[in-house]
Amino acid sequence: MDWGMKNRLSRLIKPDGHCFFMPVDHGYFQGPTSGLEKPNETIKDIIKYCDGLFVTRGVLRSAINANLEAPIILRVSGGTSMVGEDLANEGLTTSIEEIIRLNASAVGLSVFIGSKYENQTLMNLSKLVNECEGYGIPVMAVTAVGRELDKRDARYLGLACRIAAELGARIVKTYWCEKDFDKVVRSCPVPVVIAGGPKCSTEKEVFEFVYDGMQNGAIGINLGRNVWQSLYPEAMAVALQAIIHKKADVSEAQKIFNATKSKK
Ligand code: 5RP
Repeated sequence: MDWGMKNRLSRLIKPDGHCFFMPVDHGYFQGPTSGLEKPNETIKDIIKYCDGLFVTRGVLRSAINANLEAPIILRVSGGTSMVGEDLANEGLTTSIEEIIRLNASAVGLSVFIGSKYENQTLMNLSKLVNECEGYGIPVMAVTAVGRELDKRDARYLGLACRIAAELGARIVKTYWCEKDFDKVVRSCPVPVVIAGGPKCSTEKEVFEFVYDGMQNGAIGINLGRNVWQSLYPEAMAVALQAIIHKKADVSEAQKIFNATKSKK
């Protein structure tokens, strides 16, 4: 691996081999998502606990201070909306020149395995890998499920992760599943990061799936709404950081959450 690629990955993945990415890219298909109306306000108190910010070029330019220390993972796929025909019909939105100009440490795009647009989104991934590898920029593939949340089972997720890795993704982001998540991770030759999904009803539920995913081989999380849609975003970020980087278990994370929340 060349120095540039190693350097970018080492900014995103900490010396313990773990990472906590903060996605604020939801507007690219959801529009003004609740909690993300002003992305700079959303991240103000939480980004210091995170190892990367997942964001589109539009929000990065217009709302994020350029002195941000956290490395950027640029969301570079899109072209669909919640009210459109099919969320899977994505293309690549951002040129390699723009990716370099914005000093991205990595890029992220979605692939929709099993959808009508499977081939198109996998070719998006392949094209992006071809372009980014030449400049030492890692590609994170997001194994998206669109509206079909029932696709969150190990066989489907394992298939999607493996294909994304085979096509050259350096990191794969996928959903956690209750049964056989270890098999999803083990059969993927590149590091797996756990996606968040819609807000859970309790903090404990979040700590439980994150802890279980980490115990079963994930290297970290890319988790947005369960942090910044919480009533206590900073407490959530501190508690999750403790699971990711400080070996906290679920009950320790809950204690950290309660203690941080009551200080605010
Ligand atoms: C959409 C994405 C987003 O980054 C994703 O939604 C992560 O955020 P959350 O934890 O809120 O689901 O990749 O496909």
